[in-house]
Amino acid sequence: MSPSPEPPLRKPPLKGLVLSGGAGTRLRPITHTSAKQLVPVANTPVLFYGLRAMADAGVTDVGIIVGDTHEEVRAAVGDGSALGIDVTFIRQDQPLGLAHAVLTAADFLGDSPFVMYLGDNLLQGGITELVEDFRAGDADAGILLQRVDDPSSYGIAELDDGRVVRLVEKPKQPRSDLALVGVYLFTSSILDAARAIAPSARGELEITDAIQHLIDTGLRVDPHIVTGWWKDTGRIGDMLEANRLILDVMAHRIDGDVDDASTVEGRVVLEQGARLVRSSVRGPAIIGRGALVEDAYIGPYTAVSDDVVVRNAEVEHSIILNGSRLENLPARVESSLIGKDVVIERTDAQPRALRFMVGDSSVIGLL
Ligand code: DAU
Repeated sequence: MSPSPEPPLRKPPLKGLVLSGGAGTRLRPITHTSAKQLVPVANTPVLFYGLRAMADAGVTDVGIIVGDTHEEVRAAVGDGSALGIDVTFIRQDQPLGLAHAVLTAADFLGDSPFVMYLGDNLLQGGITELVEDFRAGDADAGILLQRVDDPSSYGIAELDDGRVVRLVEKPKQPRSDLALVGVYLFTSSILDAARAIAPSARGELEITDAIQHLIDTGLRVDPHIVTGWWKDTGRIGDMLEANRLILDVMAHRIDGDVDDASTVEGRVVLEQGARLVRSSVRGPAIIGRGALVEDAYIGPYTAVSDDVVVRNAEVEHSIILNGSRLENLPARVESSLIGKDVVIERTDAQPRALRFMVGDSSVIGLL
């Protein structure tokens, strides 16, 4: 009897690596006290969108890089089971760059291929197809690209005849407008590349340099142009824009209380325990558990987190974090990101004056 043919080698499933360390300087003062990846978009931490995308793609063995804010990230994510993943936290002592984060995760990654997701990025189409294609194909790495208006804020790729030839991190004089999206597919060859490169002028081990090293040593890096929307939520404008895009596709759901004198128009999520009293809400908007909206107006593209009070005030196109109170305001609040437990109120206290207790790097716009 002739021996039966060898079964085809099954490629191992991809692991996941999500980066949730770093400093978050551009979202100060919110990130003086919180991890930037936990700032909520449509009342869900940004980080959770990436973790859910992993679960949807069948990537369940997920390492999360954490830094100084590790306690808060651990508390929010737990063991990952609520999101359908199995999480290993990996401590990076200092934010020394994305390629440094990969090296920090070397023991977790072993020789497995993996998908890396920057914890402050949001990608509309998820990663399922990308992960499947990468697993089925022979590329050594895959990068995602999208055209942007401000290429000097991103890693930039130059293509020649559809092949990636050069990657530059935040170039002062960009030679292309194709930005690197914060999702990457790697084989373990990226670990050798990260070990081979030197820190950049800003002192970081750049993932762009490590990928360039793959290209320079003849390995295959496949580009994919992203057609759906993509947001790096590192700045307030992008954060509000991401909030708008997610609210735009949320389904209407009223689990809270609406009194007879209140109106709800358009798609609105009113969580359990939220209350509308003599108020009007025009969606798309979300109002969290335990929030109270009284004699107030909540306009389109607003996310009101849990336990917020908006009383005798108007808010539109804004994100308000847990426990804050906006009361008796003389004008509408718009395009604002308001942190946790903030109080903004008009009072009758004499002498009539503006009174602030405001954190470092705050921005206040008055009429
Ligand atoms: O958003 C896409 C861009 O992300 C790419 O175009 C760039 O090529 C890439 O370098 C990156 O640029 P950023 O300046 O936006 O990276 P940032 O420092 O914000 O870090 C991205 C995420 O990784 C963030 O969630 C923090 C985390 N991180 C960052 C560093 C430097 C770590 O966990 N460890 C680190 O050492």
